[in-house]
Amino acid sequence: MSAELWTAVDDYFDRALVPSDPALDAALEASAEAGLPRIGVAPNQGKMLQLLARLQGARRILEVGTLGGYSTIWLARALPPGGRLITLEVDPKHAEVARANVARAGLADVVDLRLGPALETLPKLATEGGGPFDMIFIDADKPNNREYFGWAIELARPGTLIVVDNVVRYGQVVDPDDTDPDTQGVHRLNELIASEPRVSAMAMQTVGRKGHDGFVMALVNDDV
Ligand code: SAH
Ligand code: DHB
Ligand code: MG
Repeated sequence: MSAELWTAVDDYFDRALVPSDPALDAALEASAEAGLPRIGVAPNQGKMLQLLARLQGARRILEVGTLGGYSTIWLARALPPGGRLITLEVDPKHAEVARANVARAGLADVVDLRLGPALETLPKLATEGGGPFDMIFIDADKPNNREYFGWAIELARPGTLIVVDNVVRYGQVVDPDDTDPDTQGVHRLNELIASEPRVSAMAMQTVGRKGHDGFVMALVNDDV
């Protein structure tokens, strides 16, 4: 199996099932133009997040790590009228590009972007009674995944879906000699989840245009 084949299959399913969209295309273009790294979710992954949000009947969504707002737009479009998405971003340039992309998608009134380190904006959200969220997508700096997941549980309700991106990292996750802080972040996250009776979780491996990676999916249990 080759990365070329994975990308070709992604291309095929994108053409077949994930039709291109002017606002999403423009968001990618503007992000590239502004020099943002091309590390957002792939189109079919954005659509997966959107379908999961619809499956949740989500009215309130929290995202940690906005970049140019590509995953934000996919998720925000799953919301019913009156729904709201709060997204957290530390980089002012990313935030500026994302705000413009979100506005171009007609979602300026739906998306609330909070600028600052998520370890500061998450406690603020909790203090202001910002929760509970129906779905939470964690996709920022990986070494803090465990801390973000801890806050996600605090901001959740029974039935909330928590999704964490980039947990396979080309299989680095099973390399015992790997000292990458991002990989350590996955291990620390999994230790927390394993010791946390309030959630039930699994991980899904993915291949495609973003290589070999995956998502952790955790559901907050009813009996908490
Ligand atoms: N969810 C986006 C991709 C996010 S990339 C998408 O799929 O389209 C990760 C983002 O997290 C980057 O924009 C980075 O600036 C941001 N980030 C990194 N450290 C952060 C922190 N401490 N607090 C908030 N955001 C952070
Ligand atoms: C990369 C990919 C991501 O989805 C992310 O959130 C951060 C980095 C990467 O490919 O480097
Ligand atoms: Mg990611």
